Amino acid sequence: MKLAKNLKRLGTESAFKILAEVKKLEKQKNIINLSLGQPDFKSPKHIIDATKKALDDGHHGYVLPNGIIECREAVSRKIKKLYNKDIDPERVIIMPGGKPTMYYAITLFGEPGAEIIYPDPGFPIYESMINYTGAKAVPINMLENNDFSLNPEKIMSLINKNTRLLILNNPNNPTGAFTEKNKIDKLVDGLKKFPNLAILSDEIYSRQIFDGKKMPSFFNYPELYDRLIVLDGWSKAYSMTGWRLGWSVWPEKLIEHVIKFCVNNHSCVNAAIQYGAIAALDGPDDSINLMMEKFTKRRKLIHDGLNDIEGIECIMPGGGFYAFPKVIGTGMNGTDFAKKCLYDAGVAVVPGTAFGKKAIDYVRFSFAASQDNISKALDNIKKIVG
Ligand SMILES: Cc1ncc(COP(=O)(O)O)c(C=O)c1O
Repeated sequence: MKLAKNLKRLGTESAFKILAEVKKLEKQKNIINLSLGQPDFKSPKHIIDATKKALDDGHHGYVLPNGIIECREAVSRKIKKLYNKDIDPERVIIMPGGKPTMYYAITLFGEPGAEIIYPDPGFPIYESMINYTGAKAVPINMLENNDFSLNPEKIMSLINKNTRLLILNNPNNPTGAFTEKNKIDKLVDGLKKFPNLAILSDEIYSRQIFDGKKMPSFFNYPELYDRLIVLDGWSKAYSMTGWRLGWSVWPEKLIEHVIKFCVNNHSCVNAAIQYGAIAALDGPDDSINLMMEKFTKRRKLIHDGLNDIEGIECIMPGGGFYAFPKVIGTGMNGTDFAKKCLYDAGVAVVPGTAFGKKAIDYVRFSFAASQDNISKALDNIKKIVG
């Protein structure tokens, strides 16, 4: 067999490797899993009911590759409700998860000679896919700012004539950083100098922001709409990671290309779950509010608990459900720390290097776990450190 050369450049998401290891270890002992990026709640009942009804009603066949119009209209209604912006449902594409939007966006722009800017540390698929296309992956060092927030001047300094796509993720995985609107305003102002540069704003954690702050969505800037791709979805907000469902909004001129990708790749998203998706968007936000109440308590618990352990420093996450402490003060780098946590303390976490080479001293903790489990995990870690 002779495989394609660019396969060598394709990366992966280590959290899935850790999950496989956790499943193996769980046969021998109890593991507290703080490695997974998924809310630990059931998907809300009204969403499940709407999906079941759709199956009972006979929605079993192929549907449009960009999603059923009712679902795309529901996305437009939600954008109007959240951000007071009018988005034509023809610009909305329903996807099998958040990930395909990155895949397609990066493939639309990436090729040898092109440059794509992405957050580092960041969601590992950005760098993996950029490398796969042969484009140059240009990292934004997210660790430079003490609060890991986006630095508009720094981002501007990375743009040159070869830059085709700027990828941003706010709130950020893995750092939990939240960048406020004033900085996004500044960045958008700077981007006016680069009218040919496309922007992919990954807003998958848009509903998970703490301290009553508002999501500074890129939808706030209609002047960018002809080059803006916004990625969002149901996975994190509605605890629907396993449903494989996401949505994105694209510039009008890219729609035909993206639909071609959908047709070539997955044909269409599961028909019945798109009815569940509508119920989610049009239904009450109670489940999101409840989740955020719990996440708020857990955030404090994990932040305070980690900072209590000698050698560990952790900033207060502003969004998402991740804490990203620096652990080098324990005498271990992130990789050794994560290994010791798993095998000696029975706690699964993800080493910072899973999200970019620079994050060698860091580890990602997901606090999508009960307060009891977070407390136990902190106790177990305290015992193995030092
Ligand atoms: C920043 C970011 N974007 C996108 C995704 C992908 O979401 P989905 O599971 O819907 O594909 C994730 C998942 O962890 C994420 O952390």
